[in-house]
Amino acid sequence: MTENSIIVIFGATGDLARRKLYPALEELVEKKLVSGDTIFLGVGRKYHPDEEFRKEIPELLKERFFYQQINTTDPGDYIKLKNRIDKLDIEYASGGNIVFYLAVPPSMHRSIIEGIGETGLNIEADGTPESKGRGWKRIVVEKPFGNSWKAALELNKFIHTYFSEKQVYRIDHYLGKETVQNIMAFRFANGIFEPLWNRNYISHLEITASESIGIESRGSYYDSAGAMRDMVQNHLLQLAAVAAMEPPPFFTPDAVRTETLKVFQALRRYSPDEIISNMILGQYVDSTIRGESVPGYRNEKDVKPDSRTETYAALRIFIDNWRWGGVPIYLRTGKRLPTRVTEIVVHFRETPHKLFKGKGDSCCQNKLILRIQPDEGVLLTFGMKQPGSGFEITNRDMDFKYSDLGEFKIPDAYERLLYDVMTGDSTLFTRADSVEECWKFIDPFISCRDNDSRVIIYGYPAGTWGPAEADTFISESGKGWRSPCKNLTEAGNYCEL
Ligand code: BG6
Repeated sequence: MTENSIIVIFGATGDLARRKLYPALEELVEKKLVSGDTIFLGVGRKYHPDEEFRKEIPELLKERFFYQQINTTDPGDYIKLKNRIDKLDIEYASGGNIVFYLAVPPSMHRSIIEGIGETGLNIEADGTPESKGRGWKRIVVEKPFGNSWKAALELNKFIHTYFSEKQVYRIDHYLGKETVQNIMAFRFANGIFEPLWNRNYISHLEITASESIGIESRGSYYDSAGAMRDMVQNHLLQLAAVAAMEPPPFFTPDAVRTETLKVFQALRRYSPDEIISNMILGQYVDSTIRGESVPGYRNEKDVKPDSRTETYAALRIFIDNWRWGGVPIYLRTGKRLPTRVTEIVVHFRETPHKLFKGKGDSCCQNKLILRIQPDEGVLLTFGMKQPGSGFEITNRDMDFKYSDLGEFKIPDAYERLLYDVMTGDSTLFTRADSVEECWKFIDPFISCRDNDSRVIIYGYPAGTWGPAEADTFISESGKGWRSPCKNLTEAGNYCEL
């Protein structure tokens, strides 16, 4: 159960608030995880009386929801906001506890942080009788957190003029996914996997986050971001870190985040020549999926007609430490691929001696598949003797699906993350040093894309698994990527999971 507090949501009429935050808050209220006197204050540009705004809010939240209009660049409006918050604080006995949620575009981050800071709304009780503040204050910042190493450094510095690091919650919603947290449980709550979890037994890792949707109505944002900034710098690197980190000594926010930081610090830095041979970029082009024509990226709204922004990226990276020395990690993400699937595939090494040579044993390099979404679960593939006469080896799966747990419903990532903010647990949020380290690693790839004429952006028809050039990218097993379904553009090969 959370303490009484005021949850202030900037961007209250925006897409993120409606699609993710309100449903997540409603779930938390329904599960009685939020204290009865917690209240929500939506903040937005347009004027709405409380009553009118409540019409758009889920039923269970209505009576606790208030609205305040603001021009985020007008200092006077922050004074009005402070007065409103102070009034609500007294009325609902919030104890001065406030969460500021910035569900707004990055261009508004600074003015809002400054506005909050200059009115003193950021000041916490410091334990002394003279303390100027009451209760705790936390600020939640949505991704993208900057768009380069330099920008992230500057933004962190700016936030830290008003908030201490422990007050800051940087969202990477992938960390809030139940199945991502389960990777830690799977690795560190079981004794049998960890001894195998290293270069001696693992040949390579494959991390895929594929999406079947295109860029929807986000053309102007996406065209300046691309897959590298939108997915690789944050979600994919975080997945890699959770899969590759050392066991932390304690399950506390700083112990866990220090281990993931060490992974980022150990990522091998490439020269431009190495980047060229370890990165494949693509962009979807016009195609027909299930009889319907799908526009190519350059024909999407708000995208430059000659855009070189990648909607697909595949990378081969290495973590240069004792555990992972020499083990390639393949990252892959893309829009308009055949299906939505996020998974980590751990490929174990082949047996040192082929006892059943020629009897189908090539099928059976063991794989452990950590399925993040959909079809959440864990799958282990292994070879066994085909029953009957003769001696043929065949591939079989041991399969655990969360859906088999029946009554259990996987909570949305935002539900988990909002609860953690309210209870002050920052384990699943990105620390300043980590976000900076990830940008520092990714920047050279982006600069190579922008400045090195050798970088090709391959076209791939929407509904296929990206550029054909990426098919041979994984050289380890000679088997390429694990693709849970076929290309959609081949007649009859519709994807069914
Ligand atoms: C967001 C990206 O962070 O993650 C989107 O900006 C992407 O482009 C989304 O579609 C994917 O999230 P999920 O939870 O649907 O896998």
